[in-house]
Amino acid sequence: MRFSTERPPSWQACIACGNEVVETDPHPRCTACGGLLEIRHRPPALMPAELRRRFTERRGAQPGVTASGVWRFREIVLPSADVVVSHPEGNTPLLHRVALDRWAGIEHVLLKHEGHNPTGSFKDRGMTVGVTQAKRIGATAVACASTGNTSASLAAYAAQAGLPALVLVPVDGVATGKLAQSLAYGAKTLLVRGDFDDCLRLVEQASDQLGVYLLNSINPFRIEGQKTIVLEMLEQLVWEPPDWIVLPAGNLGNTAAFGKALREAREWGLIARVPRLAAVQAAGAAPFARSFAEGFTQRHRVKAETVASAIKIGDPASYDRAVQAITETNGLVLSTSDAELLEAKAAIDASGIGCEPASAVALAGLRQLVKAEKVRPGDRVVAVLTGHILKDPGLLLRYHQEMDPPPPGANRPIEIDADIREIERVLQP
Ligand code: F0G
Repeated sequence: MRFSTERPPSWQACIACGNEVVETDPHPRCTACGGLLEIRHRPPALMPAELRRRFTERRGAQPGVTASGVWRFREIVLPSADVVVSHPEGNTPLLHRVALDRWAGIEHVLLKHEGHNPTGSFKDRGMTVGVTQAKRIGATAVACASTGNTSASLAAYAAQAGLPALVLVPVDGVATGKLAQSLAYGAKTLLVRGDFDDCLRLVEQASDQLGVYLLNSINPFRIEGQKTIVLEMLEQLVWEPPDWIVLPAGNLGNTAAFGKALREAREWGLIARVPRLAAVQAAGAAPFARSFAEGFTQRHRVKAETVASAIKIGDPASYDRAVQAITETNGLVLSTSDAELLEAKAAIDASGIGCEPASAVALAGLRQLVKAEKVRPGDRVVAVLTGHILKDPGLLLRYHQEMDPPPPGANRPIEIDADIREIERVLQP
């Protein structure tokens, strides 16, 4: 169906067949054709200057929902939400380190560090909206498939909301920090003998047949929250958009969210110009990069393999939305090898910033784009770091302590006797 004359303030629409349903419909996909849904809002009643002023003013409010880096943008996220489940989240920094400019071969790159969110990844921005929606529609339980961060975030927000949470993760390859979080926050955690793509198929069946509310990023409310990474970045840049936004890409929810944020910000007069998106995958999990290289004539599925377990995904669910995001922003999709992403991670870590492996594909991808002269050294670039350094301590210790020969930047610990002469020896050049 389609709404006729009087549209509600927000509603859900299928991006494939155009079917429209009310905002409170709980189905994770279009019930007419199985396509992906998106939230549509009536244009905000306020003028752009007034909206921008409110967004910024709220940041200075008492810490809490009003100042949340998601809910201070509420007019263009979920205007009808009254009771909100917020940690709070967002308000993450834009960082700069000269060493990383040099590493990437660019004059000035800013890093939007989403690892500063409450559970250590950008997922909290989508989850505050998703769990708020779950409460609004009276869901009795929430569920997701995950490579680890979505599950950690869902577990935390469900605990706050008093909702039972079910998470499905691959039995091998979820980073230690993430698995530990989901257990500690109290989610029922299923270790599935299979990969992420199997987990996603299974949890979609569970939501269909067992009535749990699905909170993977195919859920369009998650996307609304994740838009605020871009909105907040634009606000931090005083609404003067960068030339490029570079981000890691796995299941493609974030790529979709960035595209939607930019489309709406432009439509509603918040920005005059749209930056180009560069979505970066790990080479062993790069079906989207392959489709891009073929002009998006075909969707690909692969058996994923990469050290960046967060983006070890072979059949990204938000493919259709992400194609739109890349096309509309005149964007690019590329991939980086595990060796390159680990080198980028070592550089980010050694600069004192730190991030998890999947996040580092953004900087590795940027270096590649600069070398290929697609990004010019003087371009204004923001790279998004999606997760915290402590998410994956196992890989860190292998990299620094065990890999032989030592990889670039490996920082071997030195065992000593409890003797001052040993320290003296170590300090000698
Ligand atoms: N970076 C990190 C740290 C992630 O955890 C993910 C996705 C991505 C990048 C890619 O984002 O899927 O929106 O393209 N993690 C999901 C999870 C799949 O289950 O935690 P995407």
